[in-house]
Amino acid sequence: MENLVPKARQIEFHRLKLAKKQELTKNTFSLEFEIPSELASQYDFEAGQYITLKFESEGKIIQKDFSMTSAPFEKVITLGIKINSEESFANTLFQNLKVGDEVEVSEPRGRFTLIAKPHEFRTIVAFAGGIGITPILSHLKNILRTEHRTRLFLFYGNRTKKEVAFKQELEELVQKYPDRLEIHYFYSQEKVGNGLFEGRLDAKKVALIINQILQLDDTDEESTIWDAVDAVLICGKGEMIKSIANACYHHGILKKNIHFELFEEFNEDIYPIEKEFPLINDISVDFKLFNNEYSTTLKDNKIKLLQQLLIQKFPVPYSCKSGICGSCECILEEGEVELLENEYLTTKEEASGRILACMSVVLSKKIKVNFDLN
Ligand code: FES
Repeated sequence: MENLVPKARQIEFHRLKLAKKQELTKNTFSLEFEIPSELASQYDFEAGQYITLKFESEGKIIQKDFSMTSAPFEKVITLGIKINSEESFANTLFQNLKVGDEVEVSEPRGRFTLIAKPHEFRTIVAFAGGIGITPILSHLKNILRTEHRTRLFLFYGNRTKKEVAFKQELEELVQKYPDRLEIHYFYSQEKVGNGLFEGRLDAKKVALIINQILQLDDTDEESTIWDAVDAVLICGKGEMIKSIANACYHHGILKKNIHFELFEEFNEDIYPIEKEFPLINDISVDFKLFNNEYSTTLKDNKIKLLQQLLIQKFPVPYSCKSGICGSCECILEEGEVELLENEYLTTKEEASGRILACMSVVLSKKIKVNFDLN
């Protein structure tokens, strides 16, 4: 996953011992770290969270975030890592780390999490692209173990069958929980004899999935399991997330119930702005972030504030980019914005000037915001 800056929190690292290293496919591998009992509370994580590895390579200290595939009850930190090229950090890790080595591992964090509802009958649908399976696997294991009434559907896209990471672990889960977990695999570069399972996971595929896989009544296209979906989890590349999240939204799932985790830098809005605003050009923005003062100019207000600052490479905190998680919360100290959607701030917080940068369209020539909330 990409580097995100957590809101108002320093990253704490500890040295953890590598207990297992395993090659999963030609270009993916897993690492498992032990959690010593004296650090148990610091590594008390939620399904869907990630850690940062700090590692020295050729005299340089490199930090990179990786989602955990382990579930909280497993009491270990397991990562699934993809090697994109020989020169990549992932390959350096794969080549150099040995079982027994101690590595600097940050305490877990991240907001790709779900509130546990062990007493409810829930239906959760997940979409994973490639190594985006990692936090989804953590969720699957956690929910199957702790929510005995929840059923899960996973739609997992890869280029070819050989590239499916964690296939064995996923199939073991299906065998263990056959009534509550259903997994369907999709391949963008391999023919499998059924067009439904060939091609990318995108908006068109979501429509087919609803009408063909989640269908309950052959004679009625409207009668699908989709009508019962409580939450959607999506993890993969930005384009895939954007396409699937919008498809889910247009098929009736509330945005607050669509959770996603980006696995690469993606500065586009996930959901398009659906309202028209007067065009304002050359907007001057002053902002405070981690005790630094910044000044910049936005070309216009066609794109929301957070995305504009990210495009300019400012390290602004964010996670969901859809007004749900609160990572991009800041105080509007001067100027005017319209907050398009908000599932996070209370009415009182909004009245006191708090805004969410990811959902804010600037409506004045100059604004001043402060991301340092504490
Ligand atoms: S990034 Fe989640 S509310 Fe803005």
